[in-house]
Amino acid sequence: MSSEGFTIGVLTLSDKGSRGEREDVSGVLVGEMVRSLGLVARYQIIPDDVETIVLTLCRWSDEVGLDLIITTGGTGLTPRDVTPQATARVLDYEIPGMAEAMRAASLKKTPHAMLSRALVGVRSNSLIVNLPGSPKAAKENLEVLMPALAHALAKLKGDPSDCAISEEPVKL
Ligand code: MTE
Repeated sequence: MSSEGFTIGVLTLSDKGSRGEREDVSGVLVGEMVRSLGLVARYQIIPDDVETIVLTLCRWSDEVGLDLIITTGGTGLTPRDVTPQATARVLDYEIPGMAEAMRAASLKKTPHAMLSRALVGVRSNSLIVNLPGSPKAAKENLEVLMPALAHALAKLKGDPSDCAISEEPVKL
């Protein structure tokens, strides 16, 4: 059950998945991984189409007001991989360190990690995270963010507490 109380949406980008021709293993896996952060209130599979992705991200952020939106799929280099382009169109600002951290850790597992163009950033009050599409890649990338996600979401909600309180004391 939820310990943190954030609202979450999982959006799978897959032409085949949206036609019911492929089981959405990654979306389900991602949903399970973030359950400790709150309620997975939205779950959807849509085609790799920029306009549909933009519309869904805007709706989930501006109208539904989700705290965290995680996409999976479409971050690579095929002509139908358009998730980062769509995400870039909706973000107010990027959080480059979170995307860099995923790629840096993933490069230790496979050189193909450099092919993911995943973005992380903020629109309105929603944190939007792109993950690659395979279950293995989605899991490995999300694992990198998990230790910082609750803190990031709390700060986005305006948590005024001093970050130094949760840090190890500095020895002078
Ligand atoms: N990152 C991790 N940690 N593990 C992986 O297996 N696969 C890569 C990369 N990132 C991978 C990974 C591969 S093969 C590709 S093509 C890109 O993610 C983009 O994947 P996508 O097009 O499914 O989004």
